[in-house]
Amino acid sequence: MKRLAVLTSGGDAPGMNAAIRAVVRRGLSLGFEMLGVQHGYAGLIAGEFRQLGARDVGGILDRGGTILGTSRCAAFLTPAGRSAALGQLRDREVAGLVVIGGDGSQAGAKALSELSMPVVGVASTIDNDLAGSDVTIGATTALDTALAAVDRLRVTASAHGRTFLVEVMGRSCGYLALLTGIGGGAEAIMIPEIPQTPEQVAAAIREAYGRGKSHAIVVVAEGARPNATELAAYFARHAERLGFELRVSTLGHIQRGGPPGAFDRISATLLGAAAVEQLERDLHGVLLGIVDGKVTATPYAKVVGAAKPLDPGLLRLAPILTL
Ligand code: F6P
Repeated sequence: MKRLAVLTSGGDAPGMNAAIRAVVRRGLSLGFEMLGVQHGYAGLIAGEFRQLGARDVGGILDRGGTILGTSRCAAFLTPAGRSAALGQLRDREVAGLVVIGGDGSQAGAKALSELSMPVVGVASTIDNDLAGSDVTIGATTALDTALAAVDRLRVTASAHGRTFLVEVMGRSCGYLALLTGIGGGAEAIMIPEIPQTPEQVAAAIREAYGRGKSHAIVVVAEGARPNATELAAYFARHAERLGFELRVSTLGHIQRGGPPGAFDRISATLLGAAAVEQLERDLHGVLLGIVDGKVTATPYAKVVGAAKPLDPGLLRLAPILTL
């Protein structure tokens, strides 16, 4: 019987479990034996495999995180690490591997596929910074989580007439911050793609108060320059001159947890099943994502390392909506 393996890698994202479930059940339905690799590439190098049956992936559709565990694995970046991983797959006669993860994970998947391992990727990261998918698994649930927090923070900001800096995830991509800012009605948004001086942000807040607002929300991406900590320190130093009372709230990893929403569950399910179908048809070396609403396969060469710029229309609209 032919054997396939599945792993999750990098930052966990809501919907990964739905993808694992679909990979396993579609694989079983096509007559494959299914193996799960624990703890991402670290577990692959160490040979942490376990057989997965239909019942092993029951009851996980609505669970965040990943039942397989995940890791960020420095060893896999080395040729020795990759060849050890390949050896583990060959030893178990694995005919194909599904890699569920974001940009770093898919770069690793591309490297494995260049070593003649049939690999199909499933685009999954809350950052939504992976080319080859309009929206990656986990991003919309993470946005809902961030928006729920901003809605609550606005209640207390309004009660006290305060300004809140809300830090959301995104080390190098401002997608979550931009969408949280637009969806949450932020008075200012700070993203890595567009550096601003603290004085520019202060001016946006002061102008908002000048237009009659009683409070302000600034959504700051983790990787913005200056970042939320630096901004808060600057505002504290100039508190008297700037004239607004500040509080900081860091959402951090809270955005990664929680049950996947409808879009993430369903897209993860479609992508997981399609990944196995690709391997069955001997079509690999591709990333599966959702493009124009459809499951789409794009060759790794076109997606790994490719830029995925933010929507310029949203960037233009954001400051207008704060009026
Ligand atoms: O890649 C997803 C992400 O959540 C980023 O937004 C964030 O910068 C990073 O992971 C945090 O990584 P870690 O969980 O390893 O601290």
